[in-house]
Amino acid sequence: MEAEDEYRRKARVALVVIVVLASLAVASLLVAFSYYCYIRNKVAKHLNNNKSNNNNGADLEGKGGFPNPKTAATDGVQVFTFKQLHSATGGFSKSNVVGKGGFGLVYRGVLHNGRKVAIKFMDQAGKQGEEEFEMEVELLSRLRSPYLLSLLGYCSDNSRKLLVYEFMANGGLQEHLYPVSGGPNALSTNLDWETRLRIALEAAKGLEYLHEQVSPPVIHRDFKSSNILLDKTFHAKVSDFGLAKLGSDKAGGYVSTRVLGTQGYVAPEYALTGHLTTKSDVYSYGVVLLELLTGRVPVDMKRPPGEGVLVSWALPHLTDREQVVQIMDPALEGQYSMKEVIQVAAIAAMCVQPEADYRPLMADVVQSLVPLVKIHRSTSKVGRCSSLHATKSPAQNSG
Ligand SMILES: Nc1ncnc2c1ncn2[C@@H]1O[C@H](COP(=O)(O)OP(=O)(O)OP(=O)(O)O)[C@@H](O)[C@H]1O
Ligand SMILES: [Mg+2]
Repeated sequence: MEAEDEYRRKARVALVVIVVLASLAVASLLVAFSYYCYIRNKVAKHLNNNKSNNNNGADLEGKGGFPNPKTAATDGVQVFTFKQLHSATGGFSKSNVVGKGGFGLVYRGVLHNGRKVAIKFMDQAGKQGEEEFEMEVELLSRLRSPYLLSLLGYCSDNSRKLLVYEFMANGGLQEHLYPVSGGPNALSTNLDWETRLRIALEAAKGLEYLHEQVSPPVIHRDFKSSNILLDKTFHAKVSDFGLAKLGSDKAGGYVSTRVLGTQGYVAPEYALTGHLTTKSDVYSYGVVLLELLTGRVPVDMKRPPGEGVLVSWALPHLTDREQVVQIMDPALEGQYSMKEVIQVAAIAAMCVQPEADYRPLMADVVQSLVPLVKIHRSTSKVGRCSSLHATKSPAQNSG
């Protein structure tokens, strides 16, 4: 009898244990299932977000990725026929030429939808294969930042190759720094100090994006004042990163290639060895800062002995308060804060130093300039004679 009771008691205990274990198992399954549902929901939401971003031709800033170039054609860059661009420019009429560069003539044009554009008719494009050209253009069109000139589309029609960009009403920065000598504006620039500071910051942000917010980093390779374009309110965008080749992320973005670039802007190590890093762009950026400070072209052998090369002439003056004043652009007529000038001169000196490793990163440059531009934000005005250029057509602006 006792044995029977004992057996029943044990059976009850066993039953309770089984029930408890089964409940625990069911509870764990429920928790696991809910977690699975939660994660699935999150992933689906994330994918949906990405999809809608891509559909909007989302800018890549901060995402650090270089997406599949094949999707670019549907994401933003437009393919034009030669006929469309021919009619946009009035048959590539001379009156629509806004400038000429190493690649050929640049025309002002108006698209079917009324949008103003700049069209670069590439002289030597025949050398490049159609597929290679399209591939390159699509890759470039994926670089999107408010501080980079947007590539809107292209035309590749046998040997005729054209690039279509957003139109920048005030043309290249160099046109405003070097007024035609002897002309009516020879000594009165339209770019006041505040505007110069803001242009310096915006151009720095363009380079910072290429160097630090795209992976692998993009080296501009031809950064100069004519590749900083100004819109109708003198905001700046960096253009012509077409020469840039994608830097390898192995070996710290180091690329060996034939020497390109423009005289007076090329970093010494790049000129000597062809070795290219993002620090070569930092050097060129330093030269542009010197142009903004002094209003001088990077190389002009007609200047007095010792003054022909801007970097060599300016460098010894940059770290001394009294001496900096001597190299300032006379067109500024002393209208600047000495404290800010000293800071900008110090940044320029660091950027153009011969030892590439000691040059700052563009992110450092941006950080140093931000407070200077902020100071002026409340009082900031566009250049003193800006109306003069704003009403001037780009065709008149360009040389
Ligand atoms: N998107 C644009 N909007 C308005 N004007 C432009 C535009 N792109 C170029 N220009 C004008 O055309 C000129 C020539 O530009 P281009 O880029 O062809 O030559 P560059 O910058 O002098 O030399 P490089 O060919 O080495 O870049 C510029 O200085 C500018 O005045
Ligand atoms: Mg250019």
